[in-house]
Amino acid sequence: MKCDRPLKTIEWIGGVDGCVRMIDQTRLPGELVHVEIRDVEAMCEAIKTMRVRGAPAIGIAAAMGAVIGVQTARDSDAAAFRERFADVCDYLAASRPTAVNLFWALDRLRRVVDSLPGADVPALRRALLDEAKGIRDEDAAMCRAIGQAGAALITTGAGVLTHCNAGGLATAEYGTALAVCYAAHDAGREFRVYAGETRPLLQGSRLTAWELDQGGIDVTVICDSMAGVLMKQGKVDLVITGADRIAANGDVANKIGTYSVAVLARAHRIPFYVAAPSSTFDLSTPDGSCIPIEERAPDEIRRGFGPLTAPVDAKCYCPAFDVTPADLIRGIITENGIITPVCADAIAAMLIDDSA
Ligand code: MRU
Repeated sequence: MKCDRPLKTIEWIGGVDGCVRMIDQTRLPGELVHVEIRDVEAMCEAIKTMRVRGAPAIGIAAAMGAVIGVQTARDSDAAAFRERFADVCDYLAASRPTAVNLFWALDRLRRVVDSLPGADVPALRRALLDEAKGIRDEDAAMCRAIGQAGAALITTGAGVLTHCNAGGLATAEYGTALAVCYAAHDAGREFRVYAGETRPLLQGSRLTAWELDQGGIDVTVICDSMAGVLMKQGKVDLVITGADRIAANGDVANKIGTYSVAVLARAHRIPFYVAAPSSTFDLSTPDGSCIPIEERAPDEIRRGFGPLTAPVDAKCYCPAFDVTPADLIRGIITENGIITPVCADAIAAMLIDDSA
């Protein structure tokens, strides 16, 4: 079941009356199955249940979901269309709270509609589809640039630890943390990636291990609890993870367990890097304490994949993300280069330069 790189994680099929085709990530690594999404309710379900997941990918999914959501208003007048569009955006915005890319993508679509005050419905629909497809294509380009910006960090013989899945499955194509691995691999370097399995939903072992194997990169799965021992044994030279939201001061929200890995890396004097596109920065959030953290159903811990892994009535606490403070992060690898040291001024300088 090998498939070509880059993965086609999420694509728009057809014109304004088209649909979305995406990999159903809940079925991996057992089966590579695609699903077609034809209504906004199905898109919301796909985001909530993590058929599509990863911050940039859910931004793309939300944008394309909005285009699908307004298909039912194709015969309405412009005012009713705008009303439907606003409702659809609010509905999609309620799907998952932490990854800022989702809100960023919906805001981009809102700005498109606001910028065309006199437009008729066909023109609005075309403009929305162009924007959604543009968000996807820009993400693919940003991820390639992140790979190039970070590739030199991985030298031949290195051990790289990553957590969760910040790969092609989490973005339009190559990923963020894994784009760095792909770029180093393409530059001819041989190295090993350790994929932390990432309890409770195992994005590391199910998705990262699967996609790196597809890409011909040497990958070893470890349980989350093994990271410290690996570091002590000298097997980890650097850590690279993705991000769901980066606050103005550089605090990073990412998959639960990232913070523990960052603390371990600091204790072992191992550099800890985050790789993320500019769409993951949220300068309106001053620091990590203000980032909304999604809490998921206790059954993801008790019986995430069927059989009980805790007593059926065990109390469980299931935050999906944690915050790694900026001072534990050596650098943030972006499409414009590596931000280091990680601080508000350096972040603002990089993002403002980019938008200039
Ligand atoms: O709950 P998930 O699987 O959507 O969480 C994903 C992560 O935490 C990723 O590391 C993050 O979105 C970065 S993806 C490039």
